[in-house]
Amino acid sequence: MDKFIIRGGKRLSGRVKISGAKNATLALMPAALLAGGTYRLKDTPVLRDVATMSALLRTMGVKVEAHDGVLTLETSGVHRFEAPYEHVKKMRASVYVLGPLLARYGRAKVSLPGGCAWGPRPVNLHIEGLRKLGATIELDKGYIIAHADRLQGARIHFDVSSVGATGNIMMAAVLARGSTVIQNAAIEPEITALAQFLVAMGAKIQGVGTNRLEIEGVDVLHAADADTIPDRIEAGTFLVAAAITRGEVTLERINPEHLTAVITRLEDAGCAVVTTPTSLTIKAPEELRGVDVTAAIYPGFPTDMQAQWTALMAVAKGTSVVTDSIYLDRFKHVPELIRLGAEIELKENAAIVRGSSRLTGAKVMSTDLRASASLILAGLVAEGMTEVLRVYHIDRGYEAIEQKLRAIGADIERVSGEEF
Ligand code: EPZ
Repeated sequence: MDKFIIRGGKRLSGRVKISGAKNATLALMPAALLAGGTYRLKDTPVLRDVATMSALLRTMGVKVEAHDGVLTLETSGVHRFEAPYEHVKKMRASVYVLGPLLARYGRAKVSLPGGCAWGPRPVNLHIEGLRKLGATIELDKGYIIAHADRLQGARIHFDVSSVGATGNIMMAAVLARGSTVIQNAAIEPEITALAQFLVAMGAKIQGVGTNRLEIEGVDVLHAADADTIPDRIEAGTFLVAAAITRGEVTLERINPEHLTAVITRLEDAGCAVVTTPTSLTIKAPEELRGVDVTAAIYPGFPTDMQAQWTALMAVAKGTSVVTDSIYLDRFKHVPELIRLGAEIELKENAAIVRGSSRLTGAKVMSTDLRASASLILAGLVAEGMTEVLRVYHIDRGYEAIEQKLRAIGADIERVSGEEF
């Protein structure tokens, strides 16, 4: 198992090219199950989660190849309609195959995801939505067993705005008979990218980018290509890396509009930010101001940036409150940040961060993807050496993070070997 060794105190400066978005790639890949043919997804990131989805699709008979950032999927030979527990337990996004398999092949057997590092993450909205489209669904021995001759259009209202449920139901409804309306649909950029990809495949979707989607089902779709949108969470993480080290960094190949909530908070903290349509330069002040945030659905402050913001606030001036309204208990990074000297108190779904802490290096344990990102960020500013253990979590969602950080001046190395 790998760990990172970080020697803190280096001010970051330079340019970083942002990779394609993990959460867009993980939605686009299963969409290719909706029609036989060859698909090319460009600018896809090299990540453990993408490899997990590729392995899952291969078990179904999809040919998956990755070359130079282009993922090619050949889906004419799909013969198995199942997502086994072995795959789903590694990655919840595997549940995205449910809608497409059901819509295209009339059946699917998908393992229930179970909990994740920070608590229960149910899929009831996915199941209720598919039932509304006429599917019969049973839960048996930890599996979702779904059947439908042909799905029927329906009116669906989500009580909670869910990225995954919106994606799954949209992918099911595009081949249903008649029209479907999804109200309170998620509008995260990854969902808009999925909708645009489905339209490129011949789907009829009105309201793309809004929380009311109207989908006119069609009989057949066809293969298509797509450029993967930049990863706004990877970009946000590098912005915080620049801020926490008082540095000056330019991000290339990003869409600043996807990051408005993060950029405005960084400006509130005292950073200077200059954007172009595809790049952004951040210059951090000598002293950051504490800024409260509440993680919420897009275009609010992303929950996937909450842990990174908590680390930043540990070294900012004053007390700030970091609240998460999406995942009420997504705070596994807090005890580890406290090990580095941060002063944080947890109260319900909020972290109260007393800033201006002098962080000092220590051994810390990654528990999940974004928590491990926050530990790396804290290690960049902590005095002395920080060891971030179990970095396989970070490899799920960040492409070559240590190389990108080293290229802008960080002192970070990956050490492989013994159990940590
Ligand atoms: C997506 O997860 C992302 N994952 C997550 O990113 C991200 O944290 C999350 O959206 C929120 O932005 C991918 O895109 C692969 P949701 P998803 O359904 O789809 C509740 C990362 O770090 N809910 O929008 O699973 C749920 O419990 C990952 O890259 C139900 O109650 O999230 C949560 O409180 C982590 N029932 C809220 O809705 C359901 O059926 C939002 O979840 C579905 C969700």
